[in-house]
Amino acid sequence: MTSGAVPEPTIDDDPRIGEVLLTEQQIRERIEQIGQQLSQDYEGEAPLLVCVLRGAYVFLTDLARAVNLPVEIDFIAVSSYGSSTRTSGVVRLVKDLDVDLSDRHVILVEDIVDTGLTLRYLRRSLEARNPASLEVCALLAREKADTDGLGVRYVGFRIPDDFVVGYGLDAAERFRNLRYIALYREDGT
Ligand code: PRP
Repeated sequence: MTSGAVPEPTIDDDPRIGEVLLTEQQIRERIEQIGQQLSQDYEGEAPLLVCVLRGAYVFLTDLARAVNLPVEIDFIAVSSYGSSTRTSGVVRLVKDLDVDLSDRHVILVEDIVDTGLTLRYLRRSLEARNPASLEVCALLAREKADTDGLGVRYVGFRIPDDFVVGYGLDAAERFRNLRYIALYREDGT
């Protein structure tokens, strides 16, 4: 850009992006803490990080690099929301894991626990495969979510019920690549 030129608009200028709830730095610092916690809790082990596509892919990449352990990675994809902002109430397996879970220490990595529907489904499905252990690590959990009841051992942040986007979370597949988490305003007001 030459000096004095009008700056090009960026993805951050979209009017549908509202107040920033969690900054890039807040997210980075919290993930460092969780990474250290996991490194202690799984010392001497090589846990398998299972990324729940698509929303958790950004969290997974940063978390994996914050853990000082020889982790392995696999991906599972489920869908209950589709392009809608409301859950359909039915979880569908879209892509299964490639790795055999028997005798593995598995950490399920989620971007957000909302109603808990997805997690209940995934827990049932993964526990049936006889892992040595299964824990859940979610970057976000709704304030209303019963994380203890759902067995979520690691939670990054508690957030209110507002629609949020960024850092992996989407609105109709957009905004996953924002570096922060912000409120989403459909009408852009
Ligand atoms: C989102 C999110 C969680 C799930 C949480 O997935 O990634 O997996 O919803 O909601 P719940 O607790 O009410 O089940 P979504 O179906 O939107 O797919 P995506 O990850 O591809 O965005």
